[in-house]
Amino acid sequence: MDRRMLIAGNWKMYTTSGEGVILIQDLTELVRDHWDSVEVVVCPPFTGLKAASTVIEIDRLTIGLGAQDVHWEDEGAFTGAIAPRMLAELRCDYVIIGHSERREYFGETDETVNRKVKATFAAGMTPIMCCGETLDTRENMETESFVRGQVVSGAADLSAEQAARLVIAYEPIWAIGTGRTPTPEAANDVCRTIRATIGAMYGPPAAMSCRILYGGSVKPENAKMFFAEPDIDGALVGGAALKADSFADVVKAAL
Ligand code: PGA
Repeated sequence: MDRRMLIAGNWKMYTTSGEGVILIQDLTELVRDHWDSVEVVVCPPFTGLKAASTVIEIDRLTIGLGAQDVHWEDEGAFTGAIAPRMLAELRCDYVIIGHSERREYFGETDETVNRKVKATFAAGMTPIMCCGETLDTRENMETESFVRGQVVSGAADLSAEQAARLVIAYEPIWAIGTGRTPTPEAANDVCRTIRATIGAMYGPPAAMSCRILYGGSVKPENAKMFFAEPDIDGALVGGAALKADSFADVVKAAL
């Protein structure tokens, strides 16, 4: 099964709306020739989505747009929250769900992750569901069972067709923003476990189709090694996605 490589930039709480537009335009200049082979997605903060969506439409860019979080309800008295249909209206294609920073600082749980995953699909977008272990969990040799548990809960109650379209980002927490990474083989081992878990839940076709990204200190220098692994279908990139040239180099590493 040929899975299309996906490189998504998670801008976190960086970039104003105007800075985001410039970043997208600079990035476009650098990766324009490669859109057909690699899917490129940017995930600005909520306030930057409208301007990003407009520049993507007006300049006819083949670049995907993602949000960094969403609420699971369609609407309601949830001050500060954003509903799935609000993101769909801005032509978001993807929503990052359950990033470890959301889990750590905003009380996200596997249960809220699952609600958000289902609500994102229901609104016609694709979740990028994040999972990954702490250093303690890794040192206790519990990584695979921990991540399997996150996937079983977070990806529960989907249709097989939805599971086939799901994107899962494996991001070891100790690798995020630290410059440390697992070896590509160790990252692939966990990604293979994630794929097997989806297979056990939804059958082999879903397992073969769903895309699994590696995230955590992905840089132009190390990206190619991760992309060479059979169960790694791209990357969720933080710091290196904030500069057009380094993000473009990560994209080119996936060619
Ligand atoms: P990093 O972040 O690439 O800066 O480590 C990745 C992420 O948090 O998605």
